[in-house]
Amino acid sequence: MEKELYLAAGCLWGAEHCLKQIEGVTFTEVGFANGHTDNPTYKEVYTDTTGYAETVHLRYDPLRVSLRFLLEMYFKAIDPTSLNQQGEDRGTRYRTGIYYIDPADEPLVRYVMAEEAKHYGLPLQVEVMPLTNFYRAEDYHQDYLVNNPTGYCHLPVELFAYARNNRDTATCEKAQRYDLTLRQLSALAEGETDTIALMANAAAMIHDTFQFWWTGFYRVVGDELLLGPFQGPVACMHIAFGRGVCGTSWQQHRTLVVPDVEAFPGHIACSAASRSEIVVPVYSKDVIVAVLDIDSQHHATFDDCDRYYLEQLVALISRD
Ligand code: SME
Repeated sequence: MEKELYLAAGCLWGAEHCLKQIEGVTFTEVGFANGHTDNPTYKEVYTDTTGYAETVHLRYDPLRVSLRFLLEMYFKAIDPTSLNQQGEDRGTRYRTGIYYIDPADEPLVRYVMAEEAKHYGLPLQVEVMPLTNFYRAEDYHQDYLVNNPTGYCHLPVELFAYARNNRDTATCEKAQRYDLTLRQLSALAEGETDTIALMANAAAMIHDTFQFWWTGFYRVVGDELLLGPFQGPVACMHIAFGRGVCGTSWQQHRTLVVPDVEAFPGHIACSAASRSEIVVPVYSKDVIVAVLDIDSQHHATFDDCDRYYLEQLVALISRD
């Protein structure tokens, strides 16, 4: 599994050098994003009339580094309150921006932005929007600080060391535990065809392993979701199609990762203690027969790592 992200952090040389240090980042290149001319050159972008932002394109393995970890490192590399200026570099080309290509990333990006904003008394100037276009910069800009170790950079060398020495251990450990859970459930599911029995043990196994607040299934019964096997406090029993996170996941045929349940319109609060949630559809052939719903007492507990493994776990429940 690989994900992509585009980060504008001022002068692209130091930004790329910082981000490429992070374990789990598998590829970086620098270029120009979200402008309005074709095939811009660095010289053209430098005129500050093309609308482009100097941007790092990165690919990463979400089983080794989470989007949240990447963004937290990104915020260490910028002054997010500064408009069109980072260090001594001034101009719209040096604006800061988080440009995503997976729309499912937006809620987490907005959550991290809101968290960062709490540290500053001023509004953040970081753009958050989908990537509209990107052009790779000329070769001499790629890996600039590797090829020119004494080159200009407004970022301190300590930041590069920090990015190199701090790995996202939480995500790596989570992936390992999911790996084991997946193997255990796979062994347990061997020869078992009763879906409810499998749901019951899957809920118990996931709940026990990760100590979530609530872990369980809602089954499609008629035109609604009906509470199925679960672990945790008493929960709502009926959820209509398109309602809440569960009904929306069913309606949209996709996993929903909700970093802040308050920010999800129509979220159904079975428990006031729930802060974040993930809902994964369970398929039989191409039809959704249930959803797996997991709640956490903490914000932003779930990400692409959970999605990746939970989608595999539920595939063991209904295999026909
Ligand atoms: N929060 C869910 C309802 C189910 S409880 O979390 C167990 C929703 O919005 O669909």
